Amino acid sequence: MELETAASTIEVTDSGIVIRWSDGARSRFHSLWLRDNCPEDGDKEKAFRTFSVVDLNPDLFVLFAERNDFGDLAVEFSDGHESVFDFEWLRAHSHEAHDRRGKPRSVSHFRAGHSFDRFELPTHGSAEHCDLLESVAEWGVAIVTGVPGDESGTEALARLLGRVRETDFGRLFDIVTEPEVWTLSQSGLALDPHTDDPYRYTPSGASILHCVEASSFGGDSIVVDGFGIAADLRDDEPDMFDLLTETSVPFIRHRTESVDQGEDVHLLAHGPIISLDRDYEISGIRFHERSLSPLDVAPEIMGDYYRSLIRFAKDVNDPSRAVVFRLQPGEAIVYDNQRVLHGRTAFGAPDGSEEAGRRHLRLCTIDRDQFHSRLRRLRADHDRPKANERLASGASAS
Ligand SMILES: [Fe+2]
Repeated sequence: MELETAASTIEVTDSGIVIRWSDGARSRFHSLWLRDNCPEDGDKEKAFRTFSVVDLNPDLFVLFAERNDFGDLAVEFSDGHESVFDFEWLRAHSHEAHDRRGKPRSVSHFRAGHSFDRFELPTHGSAEHCDLLESVAEWGVAIVTGVPGDESGTEALARLLGRVRETDFGRLFDIVTEPEVWTLSQSGLALDPHTDDPYRYTPSGASILHCVEASSFGGDSIVVDGFGIAADLRDDEPDMFDLLTETSVPFIRHRTESVDQGEDVHLLAHGPIISLDRDYEISGIRFHERSLSPLDVAPEIMGDYYRSLIRFAKDVNDPSRAVVFRLQPGEAIVYDNQRVLHGRTAFGAPDGSEEAGRRHLRLCTIDRDQFHSRLRRLRADHDRPKANERLASGASAS
């Protein structure tokens, strides 16, 4: 929706100015905020500024404000400084409760049987590129086809989402069956749905699992919508929801020896299983039962916390919530790792033959801010209607 930027009245008050827009909305701008944002002093979006709040007189007030001959707002302050503001800019930066940060981007929850959007590896900057990222913002998951099986293919897909994130797993992590298993993903065992990196302050934001070789027997991918689980819990069991949002729990990964594709690490982060943003919208999920350290929540809430955890874990493992599919070579799943939980079914040939039991997925991860930055730029380039909606900020930690 285009916002009305024509001002019908401009009123100077004790605290600043009040603009009544021609659509009836009202915006209050404080004197200090106006002086701090004087366009003469640079551009905050570009971080190019010549003014500091250190120089801001805390008792400053607006003397006079009116529309000038150019259709802009001219403001004179009590210290004699004069500023000129563009009305469109002021409307865009109105910070009344209904204007702040825009609406959260609507998301769609999925359950078993859902089919995710599929994209042939798009070219950078194309409308399809924007569609792919928008689909991940909407559903948490999208499938990309036609991804060349070598590492450059995985990297080409990653570049569509942002910069590759390098961790103690390396830049790309090949998930293949190993004789010496140091992470369960290297076995043929089933993996319960989980988010990756819960033991990091900042888990991966967007992840890619790129299928290089599919197992002939099992090894199906599983994805579960964590936001859907959280929304249902908020409706059904608000007390449990509150406990899982308000209580931080410890997640750990500790390995004293480095191994192939993995450094020695002692990673530890405390975070709630369900994160909320400042407007209490569900913004992130952090959950990997095998990475949970012994809980250190207060003894008086331990029982209730466990009952909430049991409920959440049952939902995560509920088949009616799981979308199960077999990735084929050249296909990749792109998912929001701070929203969607991923897992797999067991795999391996019944006769134990190595050839038939092989499975090779390549993991690559991207920071959330990079992914959202790319999406915002593409939205602007392609004039998308959701451009002003804010994106889920992810899972918080301390
Ligand atoms: Fe994982």
